[in-house]
Amino acid sequence: MAMADFARPRGTYDIKPSETPAWQAVEDLARTLFSHYHFEEMRTPIFEHTEVFERGVGDTSDIVQKEMYTFVTRGEKSVTLRPEGTAGVVRAFVENKLYGGPLPAKLWYLGPMFRYEAPQAGRNRQFHQYGVEVIGSSDPRVDAEVIELGARFLLEAGVADARLELNSVGCPVCRAAHRAALIAHLAPIRGSLCADCQGRFEKNPLRILDCKKDRDRPEVKSSPRITEYLCADCQTQYSAVKHNLDVLGVSYVEDSTLVRGLDYYTQTTFEFVDDRIGAKSTLLAGGRYNGLVEQLGGPDMPGIGFAGGVERLLLARAVQEEEEGAAKIDAYIVTFGSDLTIFDASLRVLSLLRKAGVTADLDYAGRGVKAQMKTADRLGARVAVLLGDEEVANGAVTLRDLMTKEQNQVSEDACVEAVLALLSR
Ligand code: HAM
Repeated sequence: MAMADFARPRGTYDIKPSETPAWQAVEDLARTLFSHYHFEEMRTPIFEHTEVFERGVGDTSDIVQKEMYTFVTRGEKSVTLRPEGTAGVVRAFVENKLYGGPLPAKLWYLGPMFRYEAPQAGRNRQFHQYGVEVIGSSDPRVDAEVIELGARFLLEAGVADARLELNSVGCPVCRAAHRAALIAHLAPIRGSLCADCQGRFEKNPLRILDCKKDRDRPEVKSSPRITEYLCADCQTQYSAVKHNLDVLGVSYVEDSTLVRGLDYYTQTTFEFVDDRIGAKSTLLAGGRYNGLVEQLGGPDMPGIGFAGGVERLLLARAVQEEEEGAAKIDAYIVTFGSDLTIFDASLRVLSLLRKAGVTADLDYAGRGVKAQMKTADRLGARVAVLLGDEEVANGAVTLRDLMTKEQNQVSEDACVEAVLALLSR
């Protein structure tokens, strides 16, 4: 038998002895931090009856449509390896009648999940999630508590600057109005949407905004936003959540296109994103699911939670540690365009700065301005020296103080002196 027959399946990996301490540290953090916030651990089976996910996660989601590991055991019912934790936890909450106990129930979990996805860095077929669910309260202070706990978890796990994106996807009432507007807006391009989006056009057009294939099309980008259609209750809830986050000092950016890939969400949705780990950049994500408990056979009871991927957390931390270890610089030259005159000026300025003892560098990879600015930040540069057509025409450079964000143009000759002045501030 060839060696390959004994290789691990694609999208899985072994956690080697040298790596287990990092995993144990995340597990310890989950245990201590979640208990500190008065959550209790819940352990549910690794597989559930397939309907739990079909009803829970929703049959228009990518997860249910194409990513589940589903099989029939010896002529019994169809079962599925859990693709996420929420549906199983809610199923267990209902089945064990935890709704009869103290509410809200505050539960946490950590364990392997399974999705048949195309593997890449940070995307595996067996991966691990830590997560929390709060069931039985719609108090917007709970939303803020859950989000703040997510922020705190990432911070304590050693990821310093994940960005929090926030949205409200409303309730069935506001969603109906938005859905009608969305269908009317997208009807003209219906025939040219991807097969998945055509399939969910009537049922769940909101998901088109989140479709990897269609979301960047201008017609999709200009779609009516759910936030413009929120009913009075959902608006009040959303404002209160934002207010509570302000009270807690948690900063966020609102993103009205944040839809999330699972069907159970209502009102608050959020993601913590770290662009440094590449395309698969969401470290932790969640939201409210006010209809889910009832959908899975329980009483009409609201819920909210999040889950984060352990693999992505460890990746983000590794990237950050690498950056922290990287040498810092004083100035970074950012070129707008690839004109020869701009390139010439960039070489002259670079050399002038270095001769004056300023640690400086520039981008040789032909990347866009945004990427260059990001590199400047990542390298800890205090000053960005901007060079474009206008500067070259004026024999000048624009200096941007990356700390105060102030910028001003100075002549190329005065550049070194101005940079030194900035650095000594
Ligand atoms: P999700 O966005 O599907 O949400 O997954 C949450 C997190 O799990 C992602 O942000 C990512 O870090 C990690 N993750 C997901 N898929 C993979 C994969 N294939 N490989 C590696 N990591 C992955 C949920 O699962 C919801 N249950 C979250 C939630 C809890 N909402 C309310 N309560």
